[in-house]
Amino acid sequence: MTAHPHADRKNDPARTKDVAAWDQQHTIHPWRDLTAPPLAMTQIARAQGIYLIDGAGNKIIDGPGGMWCVNIGYGRQEMADAIAEQVMEMTYASPWFTCHEPGAMLAQKLSELAPAGLNHVFFTNGGSDAVDTALRFLFYRNNVLGKTSKKKILCREQGYHGSSYLSASVSSTGGAAAGRLMDRTENLPLMLPDINPALRPDNMSPDGMRMEAWCDAKINDMRERIDSVGAENIACFIAEPVLASGGVIVPPPDYHQRAWELCRQHDIVYIADEVVTAFGRLGHWFASHEVFGITPDIITCAKGLTSGYVPMGAVLISDTLLDSISGIDGAHPFTNGYTYSGHPVAARAALTNIGILEREGILQHVRTLAPYFQESLRALGAKYPMIGEARGVGLLGCLEGVAADFGARMDALCEARGLLVRPIGNMCVFSPPLIITRAETATMFQILDDALGAMQENYAP
Ligand SMILES: Cc1ncc(COP(=O)(O)O)c(C=O)c1O
Repeated sequence: MTAHPHADRKNDPARTKDVAAWDQQHTIHPWRDLTAPPLAMTQIARAQGIYLIDGAGNKIIDGPGGMWCVNIGYGRQEMADAIAEQVMEMTYASPWFTCHEPGAMLAQKLSELAPAGLNHVFFTNGGSDAVDTALRFLFYRNNVLGKTSKKKILCREQGYHGSSYLSASVSSTGGAAAGRLMDRTENLPLMLPDINPALRPDNMSPDGMRMEAWCDAKINDMRERIDSVGAENIACFIAEPVLASGGVIVPPPDYHQRAWELCRQHDIVYIADEVVTAFGRLGHWFASHEVFGITPDIITCAKGLTSGYVPMGAVLISDTLLDSISGIDGAHPFTNGYTYSGHPVAARAALTNIGILEREGILQHVRTLAPYFQESLRALGAKYPMIGEARGVGLLGCLEGVAADFGARMDALCEARGLLVRPIGNMCVFSPPLIITRAETATMFQILDDALGAMQENYAP
């Protein structure tokens, strides 16, 4: 076997230092305060299974699974082989003028895995442009139907749908969200103001308000909002099945069903943003139908579609929506497309990834492991008064601290003990690779327990 071409470079401590310095001097990382000096980032040299390995060779459990995306784990030879083979067979083909086996096979496969009736796929580069595509498709459809005013979008506080102009416009603007997320309107002064009516059907049940009553209140909010904006002006409702970046907020059991019924009554399209929840995170290909009992009109997905090996996203659109405009007179091109829509290498990676999820029974594994994962999480919540709430579903978890700096402190304490977590304000969230075993899950929770124990020693409420 030939040595890895970068093997020497990787092990060279001087080079490790260069990398950190080059990164700090030249790379702008996402969501950074650019008025402050650049942060030194944890440098990852390699990754295998559920572990990240730093420059010094330390193994760190990847608590966030990349960014909720590395579902099948790192370093799979089968993925590398499939990707390399596809590069040699056909690196690229224009989605404007050609079709090819990996792309067509993936579209067919996604239609098979999706809830019934979602049989059309538009490929994108990731989640933000999947959301853009879904929204632009609805603007287009409503124009074709002559419903030109039907363009407003109902979205949720603490929702996150991406970083493009349009997907950011339907993401949380912070507002009343207890300062968890910063006010993004400051950073995006051109954010479309009335596209984002502040609707709060999230799960932050105020103290003393029972969940059912609270769900009633949220659905009533939504009804009132539809009445005040006018259904004739509303194109769609967009919702994550579980608010992910907003803090792993799991809705009451019938919330999505009731929101879906309201949409049906008012001719409002329901978009499920499954960028995080699809491909096994909750133990199913898609969470909308299997977990929440609804069939959305559109599903957006990305991340776990390729398990992060290469970028790719997809929008699944229902037959009903497409049938509604089929045959309408006139030339009406949908002027949305990306150079890399359905990229053959990405499509091949996605097919191989789905094959691994199927063959290794990873979705079933998640369903078996999830109760233990969730019990361990809640046990920490019960043990430490510093934790305001421990919540989650499937292999998604969040510890919400009472103190504002809980996330940052947990981040430092856990990393020193061999676990990466994702700090978001007063929360730390985790979504490990789905292949994590029960023993590795136990280790992960033991590290969290140790970190919380260390924090408690210096904790002043
Ligand atoms: C629910 C949801 N939608 C969309 C996105 C945007 O995806 P991307 O970062 O691939 O553009 C994210 C990213 O975290 C997400 O969590």
